[in-house]
Amino acid sequence: MSRVIITCGSGGVGKTTISAALALRLAEEGKRVVVLTIDPAMRLADALGLKGLDNQPQRVPTERGELLALMLDPKQTFDELVSRHAPSAEVRDRILANHYYRSVSTRLPGVHEYMAMEKLLALHREADADVIVLDTPPTRHALDFLVAPDRMSGLMDEGVMRWIVLPASVGGWRMLEMGSDMLAGVLKRLLGEETVGEIAEFFAAFQGLWGGFRERSSAVRALLRAPDTRFLLVTAPAPGARAEALAFLEVLQKEGMPFAGFLVNRCVIAAPGPVSWPPPLPGDESRWEAVGDSVEAVLARHRALVVTQDAAIADLVAHAPRGACAWRVPEADGDVHDLAGLRLLGRAMEQAGAIRGLDTP
Ligand SMILES: Nc1ncnc2c1ncn2[C@@H]1O[C@H](COP(=O)(O)OP(=O)(O)OP(=O)(O)O)[C@@H](O)[C@H]1O
Ligand SMILES: [Mg+2]
Repeated sequence: MSRVIITCGSGGVGKTTISAALALRLAEEGKRVVVLTIDPAMRLADALGLKGLDNQPQRVPTERGELLALMLDPKQTFDELVSRHAPSAEVRDRILANHYYRSVSTRLPGVHEYMAMEKLLALHREADADVIVLDTPPTRHALDFLVAPDRMSGLMDEGVMRWIVLPASVGGWRMLEMGSDMLAGVLKRLLGEETVGEIAEFFAAFQGLWGGFRERSSAVRALLRAPDTRFLLVTAPAPGARAEALAFLEVLQKEGMPFAGFLVNRCVIAAPGPVSWPPPLPGDESRWEAVGDSVEAVLARHRALVVTQDAAIADLVAHAPRGACAWRVPEADGDVHDLAGLRLLGRAMEQAGAIRGLDTP
């Protein structure tokens, strides 16, 4: 059974980067790891060997262990689900060719998040890994991602469209056909006769797949809450980040999802204290002093930054439940886009205690 580690947090805090660094670190500790990334920056995707968008795990050249990486393609994941679970080739083809499906399968709210969950479940059931690291999409609201499975099965069960157009439902689609219902008339006027027909056709073809979606939704709900699943909440070392991180934590706790700790990403490292300068060379004194003053000014600014950062992190921890950890990862020198850069971050996570922390029950 694979353990699942999920990195979550606000947009742009470094979820994708941290997921990749964590996965590489765990692999090079000798584990078999799969990392499912969401929209990595091009150069990070390159570093992970994810050039083609084919939704299948690719092997990353590690020094030890085994790391497979894949990038979520929501559309392809949906198509795979249809292909795999359709009761016949004919039904599969009808769905895949349906215009409503082809637009809905990528545009429904929450589909991106839901497909990440489906992919996670498939990896959990089939990939023979010790750990699965799951990156999460940049949702506007924390809840969007965590409740995607519920929302999706709700949509399948209660979808207004389904109620209106499903041929098998008593009076539903037939009502539209008779054209006697006001709602039907309005719908047809708004969407056009052909579109309404496509929607009806889609729901009819999809009928045999609802049960599977429902089953997997509840399986993924359980997996997210499994006792050895861990949520790593990535955040920034800035005073403004506290509210969002705590809001996220509150959702995790309310939903019963196991919180591992905060990963405070892009921290500044403490600068050295007052610098003692060597005596200037004769004749160089005034220039030497000017250099010294500007270096001191830079260091003073840096120290002030560290003070602000430390206060922000202390404040975050003070407002979190007792015992919550805040592991610091430093700001890397430039963008993190290769395995060497990821390795450095992985080492920083190890030194901060995050790797051990993620492993404790
Ligand atoms: N520790 C770090 N040091 C330096 N740069 C970093 C660090 N962590 C992340 N970055 C950079 O920050 C940017 C955003 O990181 P990333 O894409 O991982 O964030 P994200 O949370 O996944 O964003 P999104 O919410 O859009 O998915 C990237 O350019 C990445 O290289
Ligand atoms: Mg990301």
